[in-house]
Amino acid sequence: MNARATVLEVIGLSRRFGGLTALDGVSLAVGRGEILGLVGPNGSGKTTLLNIVSGRLSPTRGEVLKDGQSLTGLAPEAVCRAGVAGTFQLVRMPDALDARDNVAVAAMYGRKRMNIGPARAEAERLLERVGFEGSRFVHADALTYFDQKRIELARALACAPDMLLLDEWLAGLNPTELERGIALVRSLNEDGLTIVLVEHVMHAIRSLCERIVVLNAGRVIAAGKPEEALAHQEVVRVYLGENA
Ligand SMILES: Nc1ncnc2c1ncn2[C@@H]1O[C@H](COP(=O)(O)OP(=O)(O)O)[C@@H](O)[C@H]1O
Ligand SMILES: [Mg+2]
Repeated sequence: MNARATVLEVIGLSRRFGGLTALDGVSLAVGRGEILGLVGPNGSGKTTLLNIVSGRLSPTRGEVLKDGQSLTGLAPEAVCRAGVAGTFQLVRMPDALDARDNVAVAAMYGRKRMNIGPARAEAERLLERVGFEGSRFVHADALTYFDQKRIELARALACAPDMLLLDEWLAGLNPTELERGIALVRSLNEDGLTIVLVEHVMHAIRSLCERIVVLNAGRVIAAGKPEEALAHQEVVRVYLGENA
């Protein structure tokens, strides 16, 4: 049972890449204020799903609704203005900019369309919000991995979203950083952000998500509370198969 109002609805989403079906009729709903976990083995379609929601890819078939309005086929900037932003796998930050301006640029072109002065002030606020520890005048490539991740997150927040898509944002963190990362995600949710969390770190999934959706080969194979969905026979088979 999900008593929350639906904020995001994905209906019958399919995506082919040539002969490969990356997503095959996926439907799911995300409730306002929820942290929904999206898990599944490598290649199961998680990133493709987030890329379609964020406007980086168009679907072959299906629809994405945010607060009942269609996002299908919108460009990333328009999706951002509709209140959806995220951190993405395999996206590099512009090395030519320092940490603060990496975030300021996102604020200038985001939902609030700020000028450079206010955008830099907003960037400083957001860097502090995500616990950024480096110098804000250092270029992104000279920062620690965790600070680079935190800049990515601050860039997403600079769009002023009410829904955040996190694609393995916690991957590669050491145990101390992971706990801080989990606490940060939780606090953003407590501030009112609805979150879709794609993650391989099961400890993070279990501690943050009330509900998860499990994908395999582009299809939903289980959904529900983490402990129940992960115990589902097909999920166990898929994960054991991957490690065998
Ligand atoms: N741009 C692309 N061109 C061709 N194939 C792609 C592309 N993006 C993803 N795929 C394929 O789609 C499938 C799903 O990939 P992806 O969504 O990245 O999975 P996940 O994030 O769950 O690991 C994989 O087989 C992957 O190789
Ligand atoms: Mg992925």
